[in-house]
Amino acid sequence: MSRANGFLLAIEGVDAVGKKTQSRLLNSRFKLKHLKIKLLAFPDYATPIGKEIKAFLAGNRNYPPELIHILFAANRWEKRDELRRLLGEGNTVIVNRYKESNLVYGKANGLSLEWLANLENGLPRSDLVIVLDAPPTFLASRRSVNKDVYEADLRLQERVRKTYRELARKFPWVIIDATGDVETVHRRILKAVSAEIPRLD
Ligand code: TMP
Repeated sequence: MSRANGFLLAIEGVDAVGKKTQSRLLNSRFKLKHLKIKLLAFPDYATPIGKEIKAFLAGNRNYPPELIHILFAANRWEKRDELRRLLGEGNTVIVNRYKESNLVYGKANGLSLEWLANLENGLPRSDLVIVLDAPPTFLASRRSVNKDVYEADLRLQERVRKTYRELARKFPWVIIDATGDVETVHRRILKAVSAEIPRLD
């Protein structure tokens, strides 16, 4: 696949761990250094499939786990051409959740890793995966209202955290301790990303 100088950076982790805040801080850092940067998030709730995912997470669909994880993957297929274009233009693309979310949440929901990985075959690969790690109980207080069906399930969140740590031993994912204050966690992330993109330092 033609990637020119593009770089795909996935920010991963359990719900409410601070992915959005940290992705934004990283985005600002890239801009400060005049590096080409784009910030995306999955699920993209604005697409036709994204709307279906939103309905599921709101508790308005009764899908088997296979189907919802097919939809999460399909939501990335909807954005494949845009991703290819951005990477081809030499951007670093920060994605707040990517394929790795589906491997982890799908496995935590009882699906096989191989089956899940196949759904994403042909989509751009992540060049670096950062997993923000903190215990879900520590995070439970952060988002007390408007929890979606996954966020409200603390046992799922515990399995998800365990699965991130398990898969980070199988794949070259970088685990970052996300239990400090925002600035401390940002510095830890910056260190890991600068190792791959030295101009960021
Ligand atoms: P969000 O809260 O980051 O918008 O994500 C919604 C939920 O969807 C979250 O609990 C993680 C889950 N998810 C998957 O299971 N597979 C995926 O591919 C993505 C992007 C999210």
